[in-house]
Amino acid sequence: MYSQEIMQRGEGPIVLKRRQSLLIGTVGEGSVMGLRKKDLLGLEHVETDEISLILDTAASMKEIIGRQIKKVPTLRGKTVVNVFYEPSTRTRTSFELAAKYLSADSVNISASTSSVVKGESLKDTSATIAALGADVVVLRHPMAGAPGLVANTVKAAVINAGDGAHEHPTQALLDMFTVRERKGGLEDLKVAIVGDILHSRVARSDIWGFTKMGARVSVCGPSTMLPPGLEKMGANVLENMEDALLGADVIIMLRIQLERQQQGLFPSVREYARLFGLNREKLALARPGALVMHPGPMNRGVEISPEVADGTHSVINEQVTNGLAVRMALLYLLAGGGTQ
Ligand code: CP
Repeated sequence: MYSQEIMQRGEGPIVLKRRQSLLIGTVGEGSVMGLRKKDLLGLEHVETDEISLILDTAASMKEIIGRQIKKVPTLRGKTVVNVFYEPSTRTRTSFELAAKYLSADSVNISASTSSVVKGESLKDTSATIAALGADVVVLRHPMAGAPGLVANTVKAAVINAGDGAHEHPTQALLDMFTVRERKGGLEDLKVAIVGDILHSRVARSDIWGFTKMGARVSVCGPSTMLPPGLEKMGANVLENMEDALLGADVIIMLRIQLERQQQGLFPSVREYARLFGLNREKLALARPGALVMHPGPMNRGVEISPEVADGTHSVINEQVTNGLAVRMALLYLLAGGGTQ
C-alpha cells in the first residue's frame, strides 16, 4: 500500500491520508492514482485530478521537511540530474534538497561549467545525461519548448523548471499549494497577478493552474506587457492595478525582468513602481486576510515595497518552503512509480 510503501523510518511512517483514500476508493471517485504522462512540461495539459494528487502528495512530503531528520528512503537508487541553462536559487536548490530528502542521488549541471560552452547541443547534452542513467531530468532553459524537446528524446522523466516565457509549472504548483494550505481551497478565490505578464512563465502556469482549480484569475500590468491570448487562457485582463486588487484574496506580484527591458516597455522604473508596485495603500483594497505572493527574486521598492514584502500578509518565505514539498512530490510521482 502506498502509505506503507512510501516511507517508514525515524519518527514513524508518513501517512498519505488523502492519497490512501484515493487508493481505497472512499473519496475522489474517478481520481487518478498517478500522473498520466512521464514528464511535467507545463500545466496547460495537466488535468485537475492530477493537480490535486500533486498537492495532496506535497502535503505529506511537507511533514518530512518538518522532521528533525529530513530523510526517507523512498527514491534510493534513483538519479536526478538538474540541468540549468539560466541562473536559479530557489528552484535548483529545492530540487536538489528534494532529491536528497528522498534519498535519490542528485547531480547539478550548469550550462556555464559544462560542455555546452564548447558548443554541445541540448539534444546531445540530453543524450549524454540519459546515457549516464538519469531517472529524472530537471531542466531550466531560456528557450520555450526546450524541456519538451528533451522529453521526446530521453526515457527519463523531464520536469520543466522554467522554459523561456512559456511555463514554470512547479512554481504554479507551489503557489497553489500555499494558497490551498492557507485558505483551505482554491475554488472561487479571486487571484490577481500583477506585473510583467509578457515575459512571465510563472504567470502562464499560474493562469492555467488556478483557473483549472476553480479560482477567478485577473492579470494586470502595463498594456505593453499584456500579450494577446490571455482571455483565451481564462484570465480577466485589466490595465488598472486598483481594479485588479479590489476584493482580491490572493495577490501574486511578478518580478520586473529588468534584463529583458531593452525594448522600453515602460517609461521608467519609478513610474512603473508608482502605477504597478504593491504598497500598503494599494494592499488595503484587497480583502482582509489577502495573501501577498512573489515567486522571487524580488526587486524591493519596484514591484513590491519592503514593508509589504515583509508584512503580515506576505507568504513569500512559505512559498519557498512549500516549493520543496511540491518538488519532493513530483520526484516521487515521476520517479517513484506514480505514473499510470
Ligand atoms: N521562482 C524562481 O524560479 O526562482 P529562482 O529563479 O531562484 O529559481
